[in-house]
Amino acid sequence: RAAYPFYGEHQSGIITPSQNFLCFASFDLTATKLDEVRALFKKWTTAAASMTQGAMLGNESTNTNPNLPPADTGEAAGLIPSKITITFGVGPSFFDSRFGLAAKRPAAFPDLPKFRGDALQPQWCGGDIGVQVCADDLQVAFHAVRNLARLARGTAVLRWTQEGFQRTTAAEPTAGTPRNLMGFKDGTGNPDVNNAAQMKQVVWVQPEDGASWMANGSYMVVRRIRMRLEVWDRSTLDDQQQTFGRYRDSGAPLGARDEFDPLDLSAKDEAGKPVIPLNAHSRLAHMEGKTKLLRRAYSYSSGLDLKTGQLDAGLMFICYQRNIKQQFIAMQEILAAEDKLNEYITHVGSASFACFPGVAEGGYIGDRLF
Ligand code: HEM
Repeated sequence: RAAYPFYGEHQSGIITPSQNFLCFASFDLTATKLDEVRALFKKWTTAAASMTQGAMLGNESTNTNPNLPPADTGEAAGLIPSKITITFGVGPSFFDSRFGLAAKRPAAFPDLPKFRGDALQPQWCGGDIGVQVCADDLQVAFHAVRNLARLARGTAVLRWTQEGFQRTTAAEPTAGTPRNLMGFKDGTGNPDVNNAAQMKQVVWVQPEDGASWMANGSYMVVRRIRMRLEVWDRSTLDDQQQTFGRYRDSGAPLGARDEFDPLDLSAKDEAGKPVIPLNAHSRLAHMEGKTKLLRRAYSYSSGLDLKTGQLDAGLMFICYQRNIKQQFIAMQEILAAEDKLNEYITHVGSASFACFPGVAEGGYIGDRLF
C-alpha cells in the first residue's frame, strides 16, 4: 500500500528514502497557553496517523453531513498514501518566554548565525513549528499541509510554505541519485541511511547528548537556496565541474571513474594543481571526512522574480543532524567563506527545527517535551 508508519521510535521522513515531492510548512503559534499547543499536537497526531495510512480525516458522519463543512477537505479521497511522511519539529522561537520552555532548549540547537553572503528574506525564514511533508504524489502532500493548517485554526497560522520536487521514480525506475537543477547528481556523498551505527553517530540525538526529550529525534536545518540558473547556464562545462569537483555526466569525483569512488583530495595534475580544486564544493563539504550530516534536499521552482524576469528556482536544502553547531554551522561557515558554488547561489530562506523523537502509539507529538 506504499505506506510508512506514523508511530515508532523515530519520526518517518528523516532517514526514509526521499519521496518524489515535498510540501514544507512553517507555522507560527497564535495560542498563548501551553495547554492549547498540547491540544493542537494531539489533534495533529491523530490526523497525521490517519493521513499516513491514506484514511480520511473525521468519520463517515462528519464527512457526509450536508449541514456541516466536511471534516476532510476531500482532495485525497480514494488516493493511496503514496509513501507520505509528516515530520514535526519546533523552532528556536518555541523556546522563548511564551510557553515556559526556555530551560528545555538544547545546547545543540542554537540560533543560526548570519553567514557570509546570506540574503535572507523574512518571508522564507523561521517559524515556531516546522512540518516537512513528503510523498510520491503532490496532491497527497498538499492535502496534508492544508488539513493540518485547518486543524490549527485559532491556535497556529501558516508562516511560509514551499513545495519541492525531484525527478520522479517513475521517470527513473532504477532510482539512481537524482540530479539538481544545475544538472549534477546530488546526494552521492550522503551517509548510508541503512547503516544504523552511522545514523546514530550523525543523525539521531543520543541520550547522552544532554536534552533527554530529544533522544532519538534529530535537528533539521532548511535553507531556501536560489540558483542563478541564467548565469550557470552560460558557464562552461569545465567551470561547472570545477565548481562541484565532480563530473556532470557520471557524478564521479574529478580524476575518478565511478560515482561512488572516494574523493582523492591529494591528487595533483601535471602542472601540480589539485585535481579537485581547493574551493570545490565537494572538497569543502567533505570536511576531511570528519563532519557529516544527512541531506534530504528537493528542487524548487516558484515562478519568476518579477523584478529581474529571472527564474526563482533552486534548492530546498534540508539536512538532519545530531548537533546543529557542530554539523551544519561548522560546515556552512566554511562553505559561505570559500565555496566556488557561491558564484551561482544565494541563500534566501532559513529555518531550523528540533524534530522530536517518534511518537509511541497512544502518545502525541512532542509529549516528551511538554
Ligand atoms: C555534496 C550540490 C548546498 C553539503 C554536493 C554535491 C553536489 C551538491 C552536486 C556532490 C554530490 C554529492 O555528494 O551529493 C549542492 C547545491 C547546493 C548545495 C546545488 C546549493 C544550492 C550545500 C549546503 C551544504 C552542503 C548548504 C551544507 C552546509 C554537502 C555535503 C556534500 C555535498 C556534506 C557531500 C560532501 C562529501 O562528499 O563528503 N552538494 N549543495 N551542500 N554537499 Fe552540497
